[in-house]
Amino acid sequence: MYLRFNCTSTTPRRTDPMPSTSSWHFWNAVDGIRYRAPFFSALSFSTSARCMKELSIAEQSGQTFPAILSSEEVVSRLQARVDKQPFRAMYSSVLNGIITDVAFMLIPMDDHMVHRGHGVFDTAIIAQGCLYELDAHLDRLLRSASMAKITSPFSRKELREILVRTVAVSKNRNGFLRYWLSAGPGGFALSSRECPIASFYAIVQDANQNSRKSVKVITSSIPMKPPLFATMKNVNYLPNALSIMEAEEQGAFAGIWVDEGGFVAEGPNMNVAFVNSAGELIMPAFDKILSGCTARRVLALAEECLSDLKPAISNLKAVIVRPILAAEAKNASEMMMIGSSLPIVPVVQWDDQIIGNGEPGSVTLALKTLLEEEMLSDSCPYREPIPYDFYA
Ligand SMILES: Cc1ncc(COP(=O)(O)O)c(C=O)c1O
Repeated sequence: MYLRFNCTSTTPRRTDPMPSTSSWHFWNAVDGIRYRAPFFSALSFSTSARCMKELSIAEQSGQTFPAILSSEEVVSRLQARVDKQPFRAMYSSVLNGIITDVAFMLIPMDDHMVHRGHGVFDTAIIAQGCLYELDAHLDRLLRSASMAKITSPFSRKELREILVRTVAVSKNRNGFLRYWLSAGPGGFALSSRECPIASFYAIVQDANQNSRKSVKVITSSIPMKPPLFATMKNVNYLPNALSIMEAEEQGAFAGIWVDEGGFVAEGPNMNVAFVNSAGELIMPAFDKILSGCTARRVLALAEECLSDLKPAISNLKAVIVRPILAAEAKNASEMMMIGSSLPIVPVVQWDDQIIGNGEPGSVTLALKTLLEEEMLSDSCPYREPIPYDFYA
């Protein structure tokens, strides 16, 4: 028998009062039977006696221990845990259905994504009742899954249908659709051979009001992920989490990764781009970083502004994807971060260096307006209307 334990930053530390001494003897006896061998039988009598003495001291000091819960208690505790979480609907292939009670929006402990990080994910924004760029995000999810040796349990068409229907059930009109493909539940082995079927989960989250006029960034001291893991959107985001926490500790919005050659990479959840004094929009190539769906859209929109397809943006003269040294980037006239959730944030300071004149740049603001208009435009081909009436 193995005892496994995981601790996440969101694990509730819910404990129960130690039972009274008399009931504790019963509780201990129950445990003795349940965990007889080899975990507990390995304890010598003197060790047990010492444990009991320590528990008794702990009881007197007010320390608490977990109770053994009935199914009803589990349900009521799950429901008590979650009253204000902004999640409207969740799809789970494990349950083969859509859940609207947030208390049950859970995934199995033995899912390979939970204990080995063997999963990939993506997020699409819901803007005024439409999913924006769903296909680009779905393509990236499937690319990531293939790199992670995860075989989707559904065809692309089926995945898409599940996602659209989950949003319809949620009734959410402005928020985020987050989804994961995992190697699936089945065991705790390192290899996913014990997990017969991959799992698919999706959750709809309300929008949070986090738009920013302009931000400061720092150079991240957290090591960058190697290209294989940076180009695949897998759930191993510990470097990304540590990078943004490092930035927050220093009063900054995000950390920017710079590679060993001094070239700019990306932020922890957004791409970066610059405009130099010659009016060139420069974006680092995507070969060692995540290929951002929004960044690619910004490149396409900027190109259209240079042709006759869209009105020109004054000060925008060229669009270039190339490696850019941090030293050159810090001297740019404009800097922006780009990602589906915000979607463009002007950067006015990087470490001690003020970018341009310290104000959001004009090209940055023009591209932000263009992108936001596209996300809300009925004629935009990248918007998927949600059939809310289907579940009315
Ligand atoms: C590491 C990283 N870079 C860039 C991005 C921006 O990608 P997108 O525009 O597709 O949201 C994200 C967000 O998914 C990310 O996690």
